[in-house]
Amino acid sequence: MLGQALCRAFAQGFEVVAWRSADLDITSPAEVRSKIAQIRPDWIVNAAAYTDVDGAEAEAVEACKVNALGSRHLALAANEAGCRLLSYSTDYIFDGESRTPYGESDRVCPINQYGRSKWIGEDYIRTFCRRHLIVRTSWLYGPGGEGFVDTMLRLAASRPEVEAVEDQVGSPTFSLDLAAKTKELVEHDRRGTYHVTNSGQCSKYEFACRTFELCSLHVKVRPVPSSRFHNPAARPSYSVLGNHRLKQDGIPLLRPWQKALADYLESKQ
Ligand SMILES: NC(=O)c1ccc[n+]([C@@H]2O[C@H](COP(=O)([O-])OP(=O)(O)OC[C@H]3O[C@@H](n4cnc5c(N)ncnc54)[C@H](OP(=O)(O)O)[C@@H]3O)[C@@H](O)[C@H]2O)c1
Repeated sequence: MLGQALCRAFAQGFEVVAWRSADLDITSPAEVRSKIAQIRPDWIVNAAAYTDVDGAEAEAVEACKVNALGSRHLALAANEAGCRLLSYSTDYIFDGESRTPYGESDRVCPINQYGRSKWIGEDYIRTFCRRHLIVRTSWLYGPGGEGFVDTMLRLAASRPEVEAVEDQVGSPTFSLDLAAKTKELVEHDRRGTYHVTNSGQCSKYEFACRTFELCSLHVKVRPVPSSRFHNPAARPSYSVLGNHRLKQDGIPLLRPWQKALADYLESKQ
């Protein structure tokens, strides 16, 4: 999902070499090293990841191979070739105990295997790649993937009522907005760790309600606790990412999530 948005955003002003998983398996250190040495890009932008949060509970090793070791291979290869490496991380590296937005240097404490694998990946990138940029984001949706919005619309097509969790609060983020901000960060050669999400926060219940409201769909949304779904992976109850570094650096924040959602839904129609 994000990879496609990045290709669109960078199409103007950059020469983009885009790889699918079939073109480059980031779990293979030899493949990563040789492809990067061949091209020696200015930037490597890594949107590849094991993203099945529930699946990672049973496949922790697989998740780590991609999210942790894959990041390590990319970091080493980027460093060796003298390239900058940009990679994405997640709000799920936090435990959700806070009630104020998480800052970039706040204590990390993942509560599921996916979050652990992403955190180890971050650590490898900081350790092995001198010129790195880590962008943490949350609750992504957009073209080319089935995010929460698409799931809600799919469910609503076949039933008069849907359930949505009311005890998880975060910041929905439109992949095209994130890709555009990523481009800005690259153009200004930013380094270190940035939180980048659409502005504002909501529960998944509020997110679902707003989605149906914007589509003028009269679907009843029932607020339920997370425990209702018996998901294998625990989710943080509060994972709002404060975009503090963007503010500190005087970089405009992303627009409110409601506006981005309205644009996405309009483009779908
Ligand atoms: N989605 C969210 O809500 C969310 C929230 C916070 C952070 N993020 C982060 O944002 C980034 C982009 O997420 P996304 O939602 O765009 O993910 P996505 O749609 O699931 O895409 C992940 C891509 O990674 C590829 N991939 C998996 N294993 C690979 C490997 N070994 N080598 C090369 N490619 C591989 C997949 O290819 P195949 O399909 O062929 O396997 C897929 O194209 C990730 O770092 C994710 O952790 C996402």
